[in-house]
Amino acid sequence: MSQIRTIKGTHDILPGETDRWQFLEKIIHDIGSMFGYQEIRTPIFEETKLFSRSVGEDTDIVSKEMYSWKDRDGTDLTLRPELTAPVVRSFIQHSLGTSAPVQRLYYIGPSFRRERPQKGRQRQFHQFGFEAFGSGNPEQDAEIIAIAWQILSELKLNESTALQLNSIGSKDCRMAYREALKEFIRPNLDQFSEISQKRFNTNPLRIMDTKAAHEKKILEGAPSISEFYSDEDTRHLESVQNFLSVMNIPFGFNPGLVRGLDYYTRTVFEFTSDLLGAQDALLGGGRYDNLVETLGGRYTPGIGFAAGMERFLMVMKGSGQKSTISKAFIYFVCSNEEILPTALFLSDGLRKAGFSVITDPLRRSMKAQMREANKLNARYALILGDTEVEQNTIQVKDLKVGDQVSISQSDLIHHFQHLTK
Ligand code: HAM
Repeated sequence: MSQIRTIKGTHDILPGETDRWQFLEKIIHDIGSMFGYQEIRTPIFEETKLFSRSVGEDTDIVSKEMYSWKDRDGTDLTLRPELTAPVVRSFIQHSLGTSAPVQRLYYIGPSFRRERPQKGRQRQFHQFGFEAFGSGNPEQDAEIIAIAWQILSELKLNESTALQLNSIGSKDCRMAYREALKEFIRPNLDQFSEISQKRFNTNPLRIMDTKAAHEKKILEGAPSISEFYSDEDTRHLESVQNFLSVMNIPFGFNPGLVRGLDYYTRTVFEFTSDLLGAQDALLGGGRYDNLVETLGGRYTPGIGFAAGMERFLMVMKGSGQKSTISKAFIYFVCSNEEILPTALFLSDGLRKAGFSVITDPLRRSMKAQMREANKLNARYALILGDTEVEQNTIQVKDLKVGDQVSISQSDLIHHFQHLTK
């Protein structure tokens, strides 16, 4: 009798390997709680239209890589190829947006894409990801990228990875760009491949993603999306870059980065690794301000990323040590926009020292932020106003005991290490 084996592109994770998986999962959970994110688990199959409406009908994922079938009652079902759309579906279905103005969620689980298997590419693979709903501000983009960076740092992978950043603008900007790009390509359209010609009508932006050398050559003089940014798009991108610099996160600007899913707006990014082969994308993500609305919810901006766990495990050396993240929970209250770089710099330092810190990405009043700190059961509130910034100090309020002290910003980490000893 022939032996029954795993299906092409799927793998058993054997007892000798599971400790490394658990180690990676532990880091994801720890860093999730360090940034105030909570885990969400959604089913592995969903209605097919969830993905065609979000990821996009003519993307590679939806047009040729999904495992889809008709259920006995005629419903079209699909094994999830990614988790952002299911998380958004769940966010809408359970009105998560009404329970808190910012929802911070993360997940770990299998995804399915019928791609040609090769090193770093499976048909069943595992993703972990982080998604933040409710803030359209650039500090939220910076926080999401900082989470990815923190995970890479914890695994000592940040030296071998490179962050590429781009903005594909808001919806209006992309509409104008789309037309300009078509105008540019039209005279040479017959020199493009069949797939690029199809994309010319459905999604011309994706032609920029071509790997074909002769197509790349024609596209050299193509207009750039940045020429079509609105003032707000430009400001948003500049702020994201500024905040990343404040947190010492190195990045390269790559105007050619478009990503293979249709739901993105403005910020898109990818971390690639030197240690991977041809499939060098370790992690990718971006902002998706219209997705909640597209899927039938109320307008809610969002941003997130997902990473391939098998790819992480390929580049991780050894099984690592136990992570040392403490749970002392700090809410960072920041008085105004000008102070944001200082607030981001200080909270980043605290997290690197192992403390759990939440910052407000909605630019609410200090009073509202204090209310939120209490609601979330934070143990400490850090208060940073103009006076404190001028004097290089910060107020530390113990929300349990009620007392408040002013300390020098340079003593902040030491102060918390002492408090939580
Ligand atoms: P994605 O770029 O399609 O984005 O996938 C994210 C990561 O999943 C990739 O960087 C790669 O590490 C891994 N991956 C993808 N396909 C495979 C495969 N066949 N085998 C192994 N690993 C793979 C998304 O899925 C978006 N949902 C990311 C996101 C979240 N955007 C906003 N929020």
